[in-house]
This record gives sequence, structure tokens and C-alpha cells, in this order.
Amino acid sequence: MTRLYPVPARVSEGSPSKIASMDDWRQQWLAAKDNPDGFWLDQTKARLAWTTEPSQGLSGDFHNIAEQQVAWFADGTLNVTESCLDQHLATRGDKVAILWEGDEPGTTRTLTYAQLHAEVCKAADALRAMGVQKGERVIIYMGMVPEAAIAMLACARIGAVHSVVFGGFSAEALRDRIRDCAAEVIITQDQGLRGGRTIPLKATCDEACVGERHVRRVLVYQHTGAPVAWLPERDVWWHDAVKDASADLAAVTCAAEDPLFVLYTSGSTGRPKGLVHTCAGYMTWASYTHETVFDLREDDIYACVADVGWITGHTYIVYGPLCNGATTLMFESTPLYPDAGRYWDMVERHKVSIFYTAPTAIRALAAQGDDFVTRYDRSSLRVLGTVGEPINPEAWEWYYDVVGEKGCNIVDTWWQTETGGIAITPIAPATPTKPGSATLPNPAIVPTLLDDNALPIVGPGEGRLCLAQPWPGMARTVWGDHERYVATYFSTFPGYYFTGDGCRRDADGYHFITGRVDDVLNVSGHRMGTAEFEAVLISVEAIAEAGVVGFPHPIKGQGVYAYVVLQPGADPGADLMKAANAACREQIGAHARIDVVQVVPGLPKTRSGKVMRRILRKVAEGMPEALGDVSTLADPTVVEAIVAGAVRV
Ligand code: PRX
Repeated sequence: MTRLYPVPARVSEGSPSKIASMDDWRQQWLAAKDNPDGFWLDQTKARLAWTTEPSQGLSGDFHNIAEQQVAWFADGTLNVTESCLDQHLATRGDKVAILWEGDEPGTTRTLTYAQLHAEVCKAADALRAMGVQKGERVIIYMGMVPEAAIAMLACARIGAVHSVVFGGFSAEALRDRIRDCAAEVIITQDQGLRGGRTIPLKATCDEACVGERHVRRVLVYQHTGAPVAWLPERDVWWHDAVKDASADLAAVTCAAEDPLFVLYTSGSTGRPKGLVHTCAGYMTWASYTHETVFDLREDDIYACVADVGWITGHTYIVYGPLCNGATTLMFESTPLYPDAGRYWDMVERHKVSIFYTAPTAIRALAAQGDDFVTRYDRSSLRVLGTVGEPINPEAWEWYYDVVGEKGCNIVDTWWQTETGGIAITPIAPATPTKPGSATLPNPAIVPTLLDDNALPIVGPGEGRLCLAQPWPGMARTVWGDHERYVATYFSTFPGYYFTGDGCRRDADGYHFITGRVDDVLNVSGHRMGTAEFEAVLISVEAIAEAGVVGFPHPIKGQGVYAYVVLQPGADPGADLMKAANAACREQIGAHARIDVVQVVPGLPKTRSGKVMRRILRKVAEGMPEALGDVSTLADPTVVEAIVAGAVRV
């Protein structure tokens, strides 16, 4: 039985939240379930600056989603930047909106709400002057500088749809995304900085654009000042473009369901999908979850140390905190630069009260010893969050005991790019926690565990995690491919949204996410498809076939294990791993690294030619005794060779 940790007094005392106790939570969860329209109309009107207030709540459901997209607040109109900026000008104009900490410790910049509003207007006016239209897609390929957030909001200000591509992606991956959403304008910067190294963002962007004639403008923010190649007919410096631009540009009015952004994420099969989030439902969800889960208070210094290239950065660095008038910290560096004390140094200097990171970082820091933590004053901390992957109880306890000195509540927040915001989570001032558990659902989230026969499990049990009702922040479709959206999320279990995750629920109704049950990997919180790795591997000259699976990794959560069948006569020797990883870096990005390559005589296939991935997984996990029935294989001897040649990791 996992121990229950009560909410520490530092967290519960003086909470301004409407969810400050388990009774509050129960009441709100039921209210949202029984009367979703009323509940969310009240929330959205209180949180967002509407141009025309909506009278409609939810339309659509999971049964006819192929014919009709889910919509929330469909008859309302707004511009989300008025919720993030204009609505704060009178009361919080001089409050710091963005607190930026650069790569070198102590390099900081602040932007108040009034300054951020002006900068967003100028960038929006610059985009408008370049001819960017409402509904047009703009790719943002930047590092963690305030201008990345300004660029996102500038797009939103004029109703353009941004698609942020993580700055670690390669030119090829960037090109795929530019093409998929047919972007004509890209916003980038000369170079990024991370851990003392430079990242050639403009050069990579140039490479991605070779032959892409539809890219008509590249707007370049100057960060390091390094010389960059320049195409005068296409490239524009940010500082030139905003020089004479309007600092008070009127926002373009959008419909509630107009797309706000497209964000690409990996799935079991095929290329990454561009998930579409729309204006009002997403913003309502971002604002509500950010305020309630973290128990946001007016004087908080809130730090989410994710990257804006992922959904966590969108929702919990930019949109949620700014809609709530918070001070949001943007962090350019890494947890280990210049040493493992960097986060806590920052907590001490900025008096951070809410801190949100990934289990991978916690594990990596715990491995470096407690001294790096305890030498800094962390008494400002109240809430500690984690996101992105399952957190093992040891890492949870280290975070709780050492970082939080048993005085902070840990919110292990489960959610996905698709959910738009936090779905299953403790509510900081209310929910007693258990190490390794994301605990209970937010209002609007109705988790259902389905068993092998697709039947709902009642009470404790383990099954596939599905969500039974629409919630405001859910992604509405896949860019340009609604059929793929329906097939991916709504066809496995008709009537339910299928998350792709497995989950155990205990007798208290607490949820423990067990990881993906599909062919998606989660390496250091980075979501990658095994199919993407396999496509890269077979592009390597010596490789004929490939099967990729994950295996448990003490720091990264999962490592990447590749089984490869060589081309006849190929003998790449020790260079195979190098060639494989060079191809991954080139075709996906530096964060896509294979840990193990095993050469096998063949992949374990059924007589109909389907690779039995279960076998590959068990061998990679070091459990060849648990292979199960292999009698349906076309060639069972392949399995013996795979087991004999397995690499122990
Ligand atoms: O497997 C779950 C895992 O991350 C997946 C979603 O990845 P992505 O769309 O990149 O979004 C990450 C940031 C929200 C999920 O399907 N995951 C996320 N949070 C948790 C988690 N697994 C366990 N516990 C979590 N708290």
C-alpha cells in the first residue's frame, strides 16, 4: 500500500483557490460532469476577455466525431492575446510578465505586462506588414528567448496560426513541418544558446528551406550576433521589422473555434501529426488548470523549465500563466549548466514559489547528490510539479524530501499534447499525494480504464486509459487530416478518446500511469515514434530491416533499442551505431539517439509478415524468459538468435 502524503501546511494555508479541499474538488468535478455547459461557460466568461460572449457550451461528442468536430463556446468571438495582455494592463501593467534567465547564470531580462503588450503589438504589426493573413500558418523555430513567446502571441494577435518547432529538430524534420502546414513565413533567430553551446538555428532553417519556394519570408531575431548567411529578398531582421511598427495594434477578432496553433507530435505510425488547438477552449483550459493545479497566487514567481517547442511550454510557460496575469519564468539553459545546482540557484535568486520540471531532470539531478540542492535557499518554494513521463517513487521522494524539504506538495501532472493541458493531477492545496501517482482527474476529465475486452473496469484495476467526455482543451483535429485524427484516437474504443497510455487505479481511485501501450517511446520526456526511428534506420546503407523498441533506462525513463537486419554482404562493424545515430540526428534531431543496436538474422514475424514487437520488447527489457507463445512465427529460430545475441543494458 503506497503511503498517503497529506498536503503540507505551507501549501494549504491561505490558499485563494476555489479548490482548496477534497470536498471542493469533488463538488467541482461533479458540477463539470453533470452540467458541462454551465460550468465551463462560467469559467470562460470569468477568465477570458471575450469580444462577443458565447451562449453555447459544448457541441459534438465522441460518437459522431468523424462527421462533426467537438466545439466549445462556438458562437463567441475573441482574440486570445487580449486575455493574455490587454486585460491586465489596467491592474498589472507594471507587473513582470516574463522573467527570462539566459544560458549564463544571472543573465536576466524582464518584460512587464505593458512592455510585453507593446512588443507583441510591434511584432504583430511587422507580420501584418509582411502580408501574413488571418488563418495563415507561421513556423516558429527558436530557442528559449522572450521573442519566442512574443512571436507566438504576435501570430495570435493577427489571427495567424503558429506552429512552433522545437529548436533541436533537424533541417529535414523542420522541412517536413513547413511543408505539412504549408507555411510561407518562418520566424527564427541567428543562434540559440544552451549549456554554453551555440545552436545554429538560422543555418538549419536555411537548409530546411532549400528548394521550398513557397517560403517567402524568414524573420530573424538577433540573439548572439554571430554572422549568418543572408538572402536579402527573403530574410528580414526582427529589429528592422519592428523599428517603426505600432506598439498598440488592434487585435484581429477570431471565432472561438478558429485554430490558435498547430503542434506536431509523434504517434505509433507514420509521420508526426499536426494537432490543432483552437482559441477559446484551449485558453479556458490553460487558464483554469494553471490556476487551480498550482494554486496560483498574485505574488508567485512561477517557473516552468520546459521548452516552448513542446506543449508544456505552450500551455504552462506562455498561454496559461499570461492569461492568469502571473510572472512566468523562461529558462534558456539546462539543469546541469554550469553544474547540477542551476535550478536551485535560480530558485534562490528569483524566489521561485512554483517550480515545474520533468522526471528525467529530477533523476539526473538526484544522481549528482544533495549538496547541489542544499547549498541554496529554497524556502520560497511551495508547489513542485512534474510532467512528461512516469515518475518513479524514488525520484518523487527525493524531490519531496530534498528539494521541497517536506514542505511542498508535489503535483505529478499527467497530460498530453492532445489534451492541451493537465488532465489527471493533484490539486496543490487540496490533494493528498502518493509517490508515483498522478492521483485524480481535473473537472471535465472522466477517465475510464478499459480491459482487454474493451469493457470499463469498475473500482481498482489496470487497463488502457481512455477519456469518456470532451473537455475544453482537447485538440480538435489533425491539420489537414481529420480522418487520421478519428482513426488514431477514436477508433480503437468507439465512443472514447484513447490516450495510448496504460494506467492502474487503486482502491482510493488514485491513478498510476504505467506508460505507453502503443509504439510510442518516451525518452527523457521526449515523445518519439518507433516507426520514425525505423524509417531512419532503413535509410542507412548497410541496413535492410529494422525493429525499434524501448527499454527501461535509469535516468532517461526509456532508452532506444534497435534490432537491425543487414543488407546482404554488408559488414559495417563498429561504425553501424555511428551511422545509425548520424542518420537519426540528420533526419530527426540531436535528441533522437539510439542506445543499443543489435544485428539480427531476421525480425520475428508472423506468417502474415507482421513483426511481433512483444518479443523484441521482452528481449530488450532483459526478460527473454517471458516471451510467451512464439509458435505462430514464420521462423521460430530467429528468436533463439535474437535472445543469444541480446545486448544487456
Ligand atoms: O505517456 C504519457 C506521458 O507523456 C505522453 C504525452 O507526451 P506529450 O504529448 O509529448 O506531452 C508531454 C507533456 C504533457 C503521455 O501519453 N506522460 C505525460 N505526463 C505524464 C506521463 N506519463 C506518466 N506520468 C505523467 N505525469
